Amino acid sequence: MLTISSKTIIPYAHKTACLVMPIFSASNLHDYGSLGSLIETLQKRGDISSKLGEHLLLPHCIEIKAERLLLLGAGDGKTMSRADYLNLLHALTTALEKMKAKDAVLMFDEIHVEGRDADWCAQLAARQIANSGYHFDQLKKDKKTCSLKSVIWHSNDKKHHKSLDKALQTGVTIAHGMAFARDLGNLPGNICTPTYLAEKSRHLAKSNEKNKLSVKVLDEKQMQELKMGALLSVSAGSDQPAKLVLLDYQGCKKNAPPVVLIGKGITFDSGGISLKPGAGMEEMKFDMGGAASVLGIMQALVDLQLPINVVGILACAENMPNGRATKPGDIITSMNGTTIEVINTDAEGRLVLCDALSYAERYKPAVVIDIATLTGACVVALGSHASGLYSNSEELNEHLYSAGQLSEDKAWRMPLWAEYQQQLKSPYADVANVGGRNAGSVTAACFLSRFAEKYPWAHLDIAGTACNSSGQKGATGRPVPLLMQFLLDYAASSKNTYAKE
Ligand code: BES
Ligand code: MN
Ligand code: ZN
Repeated sequence: MLTISSKTIIPYAHKTACLVMPIFSASNLHDYGSLGSLIETLQKRGDISSKLGEHLLLPHCIEIKAERLLLLGAGDGKTMSRADYLNLLHALTTALEKMKAKDAVLMFDEIHVEGRDADWCAQLAARQIANSGYHFDQLKKDKKTCSLKSVIWHSNDKKHHKSLDKALQTGVTIAHGMAFARDLGNLPGNICTPTYLAEKSRHLAKSNEKNKLSVKVLDEKQMQELKMGALLSVSAGSDQPAKLVLLDYQGCKKNAPPVVLIGKGITFDSGGISLKPGAGMEEMKFDMGGAASVLGIMQALVDLQLPINVVGILACAENMPNGRATKPGDIITSMNGTTIEVINTDAEGRLVLCDALSYAERYKPAVVIDIATLTGACVVALGSHASGLYSNSEELNEHLYSAGQLSEDKAWRMPLWAEYQQQLKSPYADVANVGGRNAGSVTAACFLSRFAEKYPWAHLDIAGTACNSSGQKGATGRPVPLLMQFLLDYAASSKNTYAKE
């Protein structure tokens, strides 16, 4: 467990495994005594420059009490862009990981970021540092241990420590929520089944001390009684039974309408009878990234004790092709009576989600947000930088977009225009489950919108953001930061109704 707190320290006199100093092209180093002259010399000699992303580690330094000195290029000392700050944090976390220090002190209070305050800087730094210590090695013989245990965020302004501490703690808590989601995502389909997700949810509810979180799991029989024909059509071809997990976080008065978060929980997506090509199919273990993010958020809510009501619904199933599997051309009936022609059994996400969306009505929600690794088309459109954002409420759209900007876990607005709905026409049923090749992410969202007419709703297509297929492979924990920012804003605001279009 990593602890981060703010303090006022004297840099050259403080004992720590690593003192981290940003280097500006013009800074006032007089207060720092011989440490200041050392830095000046290094700068003059060109051993370190203020260029962003540059860094220099002095493993031993007699001028200071710290064991190591890490110098980070931080620009000209004026306001830096948010992208630059993210780069700086990246340089910091990479260097910290490499050196295996057990604690560090960050002298970051002279860093100013465009349009953001010091609390934001602290929160993001805490989140990135905690997140960079994440390793998925539970299935390996060799386990990495994370050496960094505590970090001090130096601030000269003692009056500010309280709010900085809160920001730092929030950052760490969000990183823990991300780690929870990442673990579930990285687990393979033979371990992380719908039953496993249900068990994890039960465990999470059991371990929450203040009893604000409760859980209920619906099995296939109960779903049959609810007439969830769409969800059940996806698990029909699998030996793994589907589960609908209902998590209830009650942070304020019982009758306050909840935010409902629905996560796509396909624990493996083979495509079903419309079988996917073999290459890269192993990545379809990540198809429960939406459900995983909802669980990560639930854990963070418990940790932060936010004073709001939030319901999490995990629509869990495995999409497989056996003799009982749904076939292309089959027509199924969803919970709200809409008949669906299944043109392609690989468009299964929308089938599990539509029944969960209908089920959400019973909570009389203030807002419903579904989160799903829904379409490859969204990856084509936005890559891995932004999640696709759709909503039937202008205001909700705005709020989610802003939360994405503030958390640096971005989402980009996509259209839900009536023109696109045309593509979902079926000659045999009320709607087809696919709308052709064009605008695949949009037509998937259009399909969902038909089941979300009774409340303000948004959909996040996280197919490109939930995991990395190249570079550092694996689950990312997104969009936990975006949605936590949304919920923090929601908890802080007095007006929590959204006008629908
Ligand atoms: N889980 C996939 C979407 C996906 C693709 C997520 C790539 C992450 C990376 C989804 O169930 C799917 O198969 N979608 C199809 C829809 C098509 C059949 C209309 C797709 O995107 O190809
Ligand atoms: Mn699929
Ligand atoms: Zn899928």
